[in-house]
Amino acid sequence: MTPSVNLTRYLVEKERGQGAITAQLRLLIEVVARACKRISLAVNKGALGDVLGAAGSDNVQGEAQKKLDLIANDVLLEANEWGGHLAAMASEEMDTVFPVSERYPRGEYLLLFDPLDGSSNIDVDVTIGTIFSVLQLPENAGEVREEHFLQAGARQVAAGYCVYGPQTQLVLTVGQGVAVFTLDREQGSFVLTQNNVQIPPSTSEFSINMSNLRHWAPPVKRYIDECLQGKDGPRGRDFNMRWVGSMVADVHRILMRGGVFLYPWDQREPNKPGKLRLLYEANPMSFLVEQAGGAATNGKQRILDITPTSLHERCSVILGSREEVELLQRYHAESA
Ligand code: AHG
Ligand code: MN
Ligand code: MN
Repeated sequence: MTPSVNLTRYLVEKERGQGAITAQLRLLIEVVARACKRISLAVNKGALGDVLGAAGSDNVQGEAQKKLDLIANDVLLEANEWGGHLAAMASEEMDTVFPVSERYPRGEYLLLFDPLDGSSNIDVDVTIGTIFSVLQLPENAGEVREEHFLQAGARQVAAGYCVYGPQTQLVLTVGQGVAVFTLDREQGSFVLTQNNVQIPPSTSEFSINMSNLRHWAPPVKRYIDECLQGKDGPRGRDFNMRWVGSMVADVHRILMRGGVFLYPWDQREPNKPGKLRLLYEANPMSFLVEQAGGAATNGKQRILDITPTSLHERCSVILGSREEVELLQRYHAESA
């Protein structure tokens, strides 16, 4: 029986072989994966552990924090601060950047994360996840400031997520395709179960929160309406719809079987470009989707080309099977 490849061996071969990653980045990814294992244990405790319900505080986004949001955030901070691979961290759950303490050596990477994505699903036992993104600290940065994090998504050196579903899976890219690792709880390691993920270019499955229909911009309304017309409409085929409410779960489904995910701008809060956060939701997911042959746009431009202006800025997200994303881009261009 061929020996299974676990995350450590996969990363060592990436470091040794193609020189895709440095030893520091290998350590960073292993530490994040270990933190995700610990988060998975907390998630799986449910009502048996003190992990459900509200934390009684709000985050910088103005959202009520769940206990697991804070637990996951603390696990990631504690796991990553001593290794010497990071200069600083940023999180959906923290107002500003978190420099590594002087008592530890400072590394060359910046880690950004949404520690617990899909928080509205925690208390109802629906799939949730952790999203992470890795940037390099600019040369001669001196003291780490928020501006060092404001790099376009195309500059990510690694990105991934851990999905806490029926299985716990780590999905990762270091810029050479997308790999999937399934947690083997008996040996406590992530085992490579899929390499070089490819998103089918076409799909008949869209993913959007339909309750916002009346608030969407015309190109999105046009696209969804045509899907709903099915085989008698302009698309000539019936479409299916899926909306989990955890970006990690919806994006994972799309990486596994195709589809198009939309959380577009809508007129509920017209001064916000969208609900999802650019730096630690849209960018890592867009990197993964592009590495798997898909596409990711805000309707007007490639998400990975957006230059951020603030740490928690939001953006409109349309990503997944290339043909559908390109059709939506065309509809946006025609409506401009
Ligand atoms: P988070 O729980 O980290 O705030 O993210 C939730 C996001 C994303 O995971 C999901 O796609 C979206 O919110 C769901 O939004 P709606 O509840 O408005 O559908
Ligand atoms: Mn999220
Ligand atoms: Mn979150």
